Amino acid sequence: MKKLIAANWKLQKSPKETEAYFRAWATEAEDLGAVDFVFFPPATNLEAAARSGSVSFGAQNCYFEKSGAFTGEISASVAKEIGAEWILLGHSERRSLFFETNEMISKKLRLVHELGLQPMLCVGESLEEREGEVTEMVLRKQLTESLQGLKTGSELTVAYEPVWAIGTGRVAGPDQVAHAHAFVREVLIELGFGNSRILYGGSVKADNAGPLSKISHVDGFLVGGASLEPSSFAAIAKACL
Ligand code: PGA
Repeated sequence: MKKLIAANWKLQKSPKETEAYFRAWATEAEDLGAVDFVFFPPATNLEAAARSGSVSFGAQNCYFEKSGAFTGEISASVAKEIGAEWILLGHSERRSLFFETNEMISKKLRLVHELGLQPMLCVGESLEEREGEVTEMVLRKQLTESLQGLKTGSELTVAYEPVWAIGTGRVAGPDQVAHAHAFVREVLIELGFGNSRILYGGSVKADNAGPLSKISHVDGFLVGGASLEPSSFAAIAKACL
């Protein structure tokens, strides 16, 4: 399976900056056909991503209804009309800052699947949970509750992102990554989603991506900070070749 490397820009870049990024990206990505990429720009820049014509992209979130009286929400079906192929769901910032629950994420996942879009589901434990030795329990609960009601075997990508490693410069150690990914795989098999790709996320950069990419069950990365420049994002992919 090809590695998948995803860029999460969070609330960064304007439509103009998005277009400039993808112009530069076309050159950076010339020799990177061995890797799959997906970009998650802010929802306001999806049209700009679509105009670039050559990248796979998606929204960082969506609501679990297609339309209606839901002020401020993002419609997955409109994202699809714009050309999005993916929706990122359950990112730890959505969970902690915007109070998303596994129940909400499961409704979103079902809609995303119904629309034929590809979901990327984020899971991961907080520092407190890791130190309290409940990481496995937390991951199992997030996966089980989020995948509730989703047809088994549906296309799915999971991003394991330990919350304490996101944007902190603190990467999980190889043993921690190996253990967590093997555990996520085990739970996904139990739940009927064993073929999913499992990405690692949390302070991934060119200098740590190579060794991380060799760990079994690490099928790619979800990258925040280091995805904001085309050259540093491309360097992550090069480190995996
Ligand atoms: P980071 O973010 O690479 O800046 O740690 C990862 C993420 O939030 O998905």
